[in-house]
Amino acid sequence: MDKKVTVIGAGNVGATAAQRLAEKELCDVVLIDIVEGVPQGKALDLMEAAPIEKHDAHITGANAYEASAGSDIIIITAGIPRKPGMSRDDLISTNAGIVKNVTKQVAALSPDAIIIIVSNPLDAMCHVAYEASGFPKNRIIGMAGVLDSARFRAFIAMELNVSVENTHAFVLGGHGDTMVPLPRYSTVAGIPITELLSKERIDELVKRTANGGAEIVSLLKTGSAYYAPASAAVEMAESILKDKKKILPCAAYLEGEYGINGLFIGVPVKLGSKGIEEIIQIKMTEEEKAALKKSADAVSELKEILKKVAV
Ligand code: NAI
Ligand code: 2OP
Repeated sequence: MDKKVTVIGAGNVGATAAQRLAEKELCDVVLIDIVEGVPQGKALDLMEAAPIEKHDAHITGANAYEASAGSDIIIITAGIPRKPGMSRDDLISTNAGIVKNVTKQVAALSPDAIIIIVSNPLDAMCHVAYEASGFPKNRIIGMAGVLDSARFRAFIAMELNVSVENTHAFVLGGHGDTMVPLPRYSTVAGIPITELLSKERIDELVKRTANGGAEIVSLLKTGSAYYAPASAAVEMAESILKDKKKILPCAAYLEGEYGINGLFIGVPVKLGSKGIEEIIQIKMTEEEKAALKKSADAVSELKEILKKVAV
């Protein structure tokens, strides 16, 4: 393949993302993990599936970063996931150290790459990668909104018994309890769900969306979601690799947009070959603006905690 994507962290999200990237024949994939043998073993296993899955993407596994050199995109999933009872924010000090370390290594070897952050707490980890890489803001993108919106879409489709393909949804804000699902901008075949469902039912779906990650954690008990998170990261990568210019909700560094300054937070962006090519500013009601501000305040608090934890 003429494109190369490195996935850091060959755990649940990383290995599933590698599988989806290869099976869609989007690029060659390098899988890197700190644990010896795991990225190599998973890469070989995926290569052995290729004749059946009918793709010619090469997947290699490594512990050293040299293999990542010259990547078009780096997807960072390295870190620890949450266990029942933990919030995403409980992961901050461990994952900040890991994300800082891996970002420095990949940025040095792939200076033109676009970095997609997956590790939690997501918005805070985007800040860590932004500072550690020294990359311009359009090349640091956080994955959360695509996942949260996909969850909202899935719940809308289940509720109305319609195809998921007919659904569209926007979930903005930080990737935490304060995330901001926007029912007015969420549609079925172009019809806002506010015209299809009662306020009470929408409130239930919004609540389930905001709790979507915790719902999976409480079922799995040993880790967090990974099929949908991997799909979300790969949708972002595909838009970049193919310069599709999809408008997707992603964590982006804001400098005044939505009245927010110096913070990574989820907003609709245009994703193309240059990374974030535009931040789309949608009109919001006073209530929606207040919810986004509350979410931005929560991300700001995390940014303050970051300053205190030794990384
Ligand atoms: P996992 O535990 O299955 O995989 C993490 C992998 O990172 C492990 O294989 C581990 O060995 C590796 N790792 C740890 N330190 C490393 C280092 N210094 N260098 C290279 N690799 C290292 O976890 P999972 O489920 O894949 O989740 C990964 C991260 O993504 C977690 O922080 C999780 O909370 C986050 N996440 C974020 C989502 C989002 O919406 N932004 C959605 C799902 C997960
Ligand atoms: C999720 O939302 C844990 O952030 C991860 O599933």
